Amino acid sequence: MKKLTLFLLFLPVIALTQPPRQKLLFDFGWKFALGHAADPQRDFGYGIGAAFAKAGEAQGAAHPNFSDSLWRSVDLPHDWAVELPFVNHEDPEVKSHGYKPVGRLFPESSVGWYRRAFAIPAADRGRRIRVEFDGVFRDAAVWCNGHYLGRHAGGYTPFSFDLTDYLRYGQRNTLVVRVDASHYEGWFYEGAGIYRHVWLHKYEPLHLAEYGVYVHSQISGAAAEVTIETIVENLSPAAAEGRVCVDLLDRDRRLAGRSVLPFAALQPLEATTIRHAITVADPRLWSLEDPHLYTVHTVIEQEGRTIDSLDTPVGLRSLRFDPDRGFFLNGAPVKIQGVCCHQDHGGVGSALPDALQEYRIRLLKAMGCNAYRTSHNPPTPELLDACDRLGMLVMDEHRLMGSSPEILNELETLVRRDRNHPSVILWSIGNEEYVIQGNETGAAIASTMMARLRRLDPGRTITYGANIGPDAGGINTVIPVRGFNYKRVGAIDRYRSLRPDQPLIGSEEGSTVCTRGFYANDTLKGYVCDYDSMYPPWATTAQDWWSFYADRPWLSGGFVWTGFDYRGEPTPYSWPCINSHFGIMDMCGFPKNNYFYYQAWWSGKDVLHLFPHWNWPGREGEEIEVWVHSNCDSVELFLNGRSLGRMSMPRNGHLAWRVPYESGRLEAAGWRSGRRLAAAVETTGPAKGIHLAPDKSSIRADQEDLCMVTVTARDGAGREMAVADQLIHFELQGPGRIIGVANGDPSSHEADKCADGSWQRRLFSGKCQVIIQALRESGEILLTASAPGLLAHTVAIRAESCTPRPLVPPYQPDQLRHLGLGMPVHYGKSFSYKWPGAGAKTLSNGLLGSSEYNDGQWQGFEGEDLEAVIDLGAVQKIGSLCATFLQDAGSWIFWPKTVSFALSRDGRSFTPAGGVTACEDVRSSMIKAFRVEAGGKRARYVRVTGVSVKVCPPDHRAAGSPAWLFVDEVVIE
Ligand code: GAL
Repeated sequence: MKKLTLFLLFLPVIALTQPPRQKLLFDFGWKFALGHAADPQRDFGYGIGAAFAKAGEAQGAAHPNFSDSLWRSVDLPHDWAVELPFVNHEDPEVKSHGYKPVGRLFPESSVGWYRRAFAIPAADRGRRIRVEFDGVFRDAAVWCNGHYLGRHAGGYTPFSFDLTDYLRYGQRNTLVVRVDASHYEGWFYEGAGIYRHVWLHKYEPLHLAEYGVYVHSQISGAAAEVTIETIVENLSPAAAEGRVCVDLLDRDRRLAGRSVLPFAALQPLEATTIRHAITVADPRLWSLEDPHLYTVHTVIEQEGRTIDSLDTPVGLRSLRFDPDRGFFLNGAPVKIQGVCCHQDHGGVGSALPDALQEYRIRLLKAMGCNAYRTSHNPPTPELLDACDRLGMLVMDEHRLMGSSPEILNELETLVRRDRNHPSVILWSIGNEEYVIQGNETGAAIASTMMARLRRLDPGRTITYGANIGPDAGGINTVIPVRGFNYKRVGAIDRYRSLRPDQPLIGSEEGSTVCTRGFYANDTLKGYVCDYDSMYPPWATTAQDWWSFYADRPWLSGGFVWTGFDYRGEPTPYSWPCINSHFGIMDMCGFPKNNYFYYQAWWSGKDVLHLFPHWNWPGREGEEIEVWVHSNCDSVELFLNGRSLGRMSMPRNGHLAWRVPYESGRLEAAGWRSGRRLAAAVETTGPAKGIHLAPDKSSIRADQEDLCMVTVTARDGAGREMAVADQLIHFELQGPGRIIGVANGDPSSHEADKCADGSWQRRLFSGKCQVIIQALRESGEILLTASAPGLLAHTVAIRAESCTPRPLVPPYQPDQLRHLGLGMPVHYGKSFSYKWPGAGAKTLSNGLLGSSEYNDGQWQGFEGEDLEAVIDLGAVQKIGSLCATFLQDAGSWIFWPKTVSFALSRDGRSFTPAGGVTACEDVRSSMIKAFRVEAGGKRARYVRVTGVSVKVCPPDHRAAGSPAWLFVDEVVIE
């Protein structure tokens, strides 16, 4: 009876205090340090000792008691590769990865350690708690509270661990991730670190399984038949039954359909799939113009109580690839006007905040692009969210072909994670697998992968990016949609005559190389002219590939290599060039001239774009090549008011003139269906001032949102200077921070991340970019740009208060008390001070002494022991204590031999706090931490006693450096 009463009392508490499912952002407040891929001593002891022999016995930095107080604080997403300097190395992979010192050749900068302390409330006992990593590059090993959880090799697929059994409820918990980026997966810049989000999920033992909601639909006539497959899993120790309720809600959360089905008793560890069917009469279909999203609201109910619930955005639409007529969306033909992209951006490397995904998709959409290929790896889920919301089709690509369990698991994860996204129209199983693409092995592996894909997602078809001629068999013989990497290689017309039954798509086309705003080829600097004229031997111009595809209705369209420049593959150059030139836009998303070619023929907007700029001093009388990208019927050119002739615009073409240079104004007048459009370039005067153009005037104060600021120089008449290259300094005030600067120069070795906080970047072809991120406070953010001799400019951006996403809070200060400024310290024994001013009798930031590092040290010379008593001001319940000793690198080590902690209420009689664990940072022999679990003893005074090492050779005493003592933590319960 007593038990029953307790049970009944317990239930409403759960229902009232916590939602049935929580998804908490785990991005903020991590500690980070580089380890070492070849030297265990410098890898925090990793690999020394039996790290995997016993549960909970992690060593070094993986141990929960390891002190990371001297590590850097970082927020995720984080890419440490972008922070490293460039190195000129002859290894071709170093070049293709953008000359960053990451990989086997650079063991000292290829391993990163991340640590995060977090609290789990006692009320969470009984729930399931799972940590999910959206993507870590790469080879992540994970520990929770000193327990090894496992590792995940792939740098592009998500993975997760159930932490439930390992957690300490109501206490401090520690998650540690060792990331080893010393192997490459691709042949392009890949970044390094936890470069996507991390989440903490909390739910009940009876719950919706991971990726456990799968929604697919058939459009038949004027109705949509929607199928929702829900996996319910029971991890509770007792059998459980209940029902699954599914509501289909439209964009305004109006009910469009409902289905409720019971599930029979599920035994412990059992899972079941419930299949719901909902018919939507007259659905609002997801399309490029109107990307309408419905929400599937799924609930597990038990006796009227909600046990779990999840919202899944979905779009209702139909897809079809036809061998004669190309691709159809909702029954209407849509020519694929796509781009391939890698995942990095200027300033931030591969660690893109979500707002930047959206920014890039918007730029592409404005160009008339309607499709995105995630070459050559699974994307971050937020990219797909942006494509769903904005109306962009996606070819979703797997990384490495194969049919081993590891590779098929990666494929399966990709499909399970992404199959609800309406934007995803096509899976790609791989790209240019030249060892297997034309042979029997390739066909066999492709068949196995496709069988797995079809079982998981029968509604979508599959392709592969082939760079092989028309006669080859191999993967071509089995793949449903043949992908061509370059028409020049694939001989498409001939292929079509051989395989008229197969739908065809350009998986990679174009590949024109251009440097934004540069009009000559400069092999020393590594620049290529910004006309549609240069390309590698396998590739073509934009005009060549697009007019070919546009003329063939049986081609579904294609994807340009690439939408944006990316780090690595500096084709056609090498050092000092460090990034690619293939982009239609540069690394910042600033358009090159080809942007307007595609916009003219893809977007349907009025386009009249005239180039180059008109600043050619010293070249008077020389002929300058002038181009116009436009969809006007005809265009007339004028120099300083004189007509240079009118020409008709060829369909999918461009116009060009050779114009003897004279300074002044070059104008184009275009006629489009009888309407007149105008464009001009002008010779500008000397630079007068800087101009800042933020992409928006307000952002959300959620610690995630971004403002992208374009920086230019202007002349006295307010005209933008196309050739300016001044070094600009940035200062930011208010509740924001700069997270990166970039300028699109493919040969710039300037820092994207200015570690010392003095942000600066040179203009390149007149532009650079500053990326500002909000903090959690609202207010006015002021960005000021200055440069010697130029008028400075300041812009204001409002950070508006909002409800940020729920997060895993930083480890609570009321639980972890960093001893603060002014806490009195009494030294029981006198000890040596090396520098003047030493010996202040207060604590500052945990350091004994003042906030200067040059006092408060304890010199652990022979015979000099330490005793310090810290007065906490009042009697407290002490959970744990940690003291860290920091030692000068490379000097004689005078660690304390033993450290002990004692507690007292009155400052006179002390009792031992408990057994001390020592934890050394063996990497540099710089840090040693000592921790004790006091188990809730009550005390006002904490005594730290250190007994010195008595090994110092007498002749080295004078050379000895002190160990500095921090008392890092006093955890008060
Ligand atoms: C393609 C390849 C791409 C990229 C490109 C450079 O063949 O699929 O990943 O390397 O060449 O032109």
